[in-house]
Formats: sequence, structure tokens, C-alpha cells
Amino acid sequence: ILRSVVTGVGGYLPETVVTNDDLSKVVDTSDDWIRERTGIRRRHRANDDQAVSDLAVEAAKKALAEAGKTPADVDLIVVATTTADLTFPAAAAIVQRKLGCPVGIAFDVQAVCSGFVYAMTVADGFVARGHSKCALVIGAETMTRLMDWTDRGTCVLFGDGAGAVVLEPGEGQGTTADRGMLGFALRCDGTKQDLLYVDGGPSTTGTVGKLRMQGNQVFKHAVINISEAVIAAAQVAGVEIKDVDWFIPHQANQRILAGVAHRLGIDESKVITTVADHANTSAASIPLALAEGVADGRIKKGDLLLMEAMGGGLTWGACVVRL
Ligand code: ACO
Repeated sequence: ILRSVVTGVGGYLPETVVTNDDLSKVVDTSDDWIRERTGIRRRHRANDDQAVSDLAVEAAKKALAEAGKTPADVDLIVVATTTADLTFPAAAAIVQRKLGCPVGIAFDVQAVCSGFVYAMTVADGFVARGHSKCALVIGAETMTRLMDWTDRGTCVLFGDGAGAVVLEPGEGQGTTADRGMLGFALRCDGTKQDLLYVDGGPSTTGTVGKLRMQGNQVFKHAVINISEAVIAAAQVAGVEIKDVDWFIPHQANQRILAGVAHRLGIDESKVITTVADHANTSAASIPLALAEGVADGRIKKGDLLLMEAMGGGLTWGACVVRL
């Protein structure tokens, strides 16, 4: 079987760091409250002149370098984002131009915080069916642009950043026998829209809008639903959760990711956690965490990775990848 194999990963965080103390000057909050409820200590914020495509390009360059590829090799770009530069064209089209990739396939996937998991499965379809020899899958977000800076219940939770992976076809023989995307499970329950959404859009208000969330309700849905999708993805992949080397959850909240790990019986030592320093970067959080784990030498070629996320929609899902 032809499979899509991850051959490079890269992450990019904008330089500006915003601490909890910085935010306590903007809204009535405290470092203690934010740390205790979320595990977040700081987040990065894109400068005014940085668009989501700029963050995406930086992450993509690193992933391509690690894969030993150049922009000239890229024939598919899928950007998972909910904060694209413009209403259209897609951020992916802008990334293609800025990187200088040849004319190929480029489009965005909009599944909010679940976007990277969705985008991986979409790109996998192209690569595994022989339609792409070198795909860039990028999660990139400027979530701070969607914040209502008077709402302490949301504005402390999010940050900006981008992460990227390169997918290439693997032959399914010899060394690549069990490498690549092994299985996934995706879900959406549109009846839960009111729990987490942005109150603007091109076909309604004509504005970008601000993020609105019933945090405790989202929390309630997260652990149980994510766990179910993880179990389903592992079944499709034909792997046991106990055999997973690294659990790379969407980094929304320390309590949610620890809750899912606990429910699935995954030891804390196998969980890649970046939420303390990145906060919730939506579709960027999983590839950023993956890039960090690879860069510091924890995650190695051949490791079995389990990724999961939940976000607006509500959408959620999981995928199992052998690196
Ligand atoms: N600082 C101080 N107090 C705050 C803050 C803040 N930043 N935010 C809310 N509070 C107050 C509330 O006003 C409320 O005060 P009150 O009792 O006087 O009315 C009190 O804290 C409790 O509010 P809750 O919303 O019930 O607090 P909760 O314990 O649920 O924590 C939180 C809030 C952290 C948002 C939590 O619900 C959560 O993490 N939910 C998950 C949401 C999430 O991560 N969403 C991300 C997108 S979806 C995803 O990626 C999974």
C-alpha cells in the first residue's frame, strides 16, 4: 500500500511573548488563576505586520529543510487555519506564492482547533492515492486577532504560531512498511455551535468577529468525546493505545489533555505538552508540539504517534501516525 509518510517537521512562534502578568494589566485576572485553571504561563503574539501566511511560511521552510526538500518540490499545500490572511484567496495560495512553489494544489481546511488533524487526513488522501509526491500540511493561526480583550474568560487562553509537516509517499515495503498515516477518526456535531464560535463572518455581519465560548461546557464535552475518537482511530490503525510512544494532543488546556491521557491510560511521561508556553494556538498546536518533541530528541523516526484535537463546530478527531 502507498502511505503518506512524515519526512519533515517544523514550528514557528512569533517573537513577542505575552505573560499572564501582562494580561492582568488588560483584564481582571491573575497569573495564579490562569496557571491553575489552564496550565498556561505565556503565549506568543504575532506582530501587526505578520499575517498567518508569514507564520506558515517560516514553519514550512523548517519542515522542508528537515525533509531535504525545496519549495520547487511541493505539489500540494493544505493549510489548516481559522484566521486566514483574507476571506479569500486561501492562506495556502498565499503560502504557495511566498514560498515560490510551482503551480500545484493549494487550499485551506477550516476545522478550527481540529484543523491539523483534519488537514492531515485530507493530504493523506492525495499522497496515498498518488496525486502528490511532496505535500506541505501546515497548521497556522493568529488567534489573538479574534480575541475580545474585555472577556477574561477567553482572551487569556490563546496564542499565535504555526507548525508544518512534509508528507511524502512511502512504499509500504521494507523500512517504510508500517510508517505513515495508519488511521484516523473525525467527528463534527454542528448542534454544539453555540459553545464555541466567532460572532462574525463574510456572509452574515461582514466583519471578522470575536471568539465566544462557554468554556465549562466545552470542557465537559472535550474529554469524553476526544477519548472516543482516539479509541476509534487506534482501532482503524490496528494499534493498541498502550503501544503509542508519544501522545501529541491539541494544547487547549492542561486539564483537558491530562484528562484525556488519564482516561486512555497513557502515562504522563508520554505526553508532549507545550500549553504552558504556547497557550492554545488552535490548528497550530499539534504540529508545534510535534516539532518541539522532534527538535529536543524525544520523538524519533519509527515512533508511534497519537494526535487528537477538539475545536469549534464542535469538531474533534484523532489520527495515528508512525513517524
Ligand atoms: N481570570 C480570573 N477569573 C476568571 C477568568 C480569568 N481569566 N476567566 C473566568 N474567570 C471567572 C469567571 O468569571 C467565573 O467567575 P464567577 O464565578 O464570579 O462568575 C469563574 O472564574 C469561573 O468561571 P468558569 O468559566 O466556570 O471557570 P472554569 O473553571 O470552567 O474555567 C476555563 C474556565 C479555563 C475557560 C475552562 O472552562 C476551560 O478550560 N474550558 C475549556 C475551553 C477551552 O480550552 N477551549 C479552547 C477551545 S476548544 C479546545 O481547544 C478544546
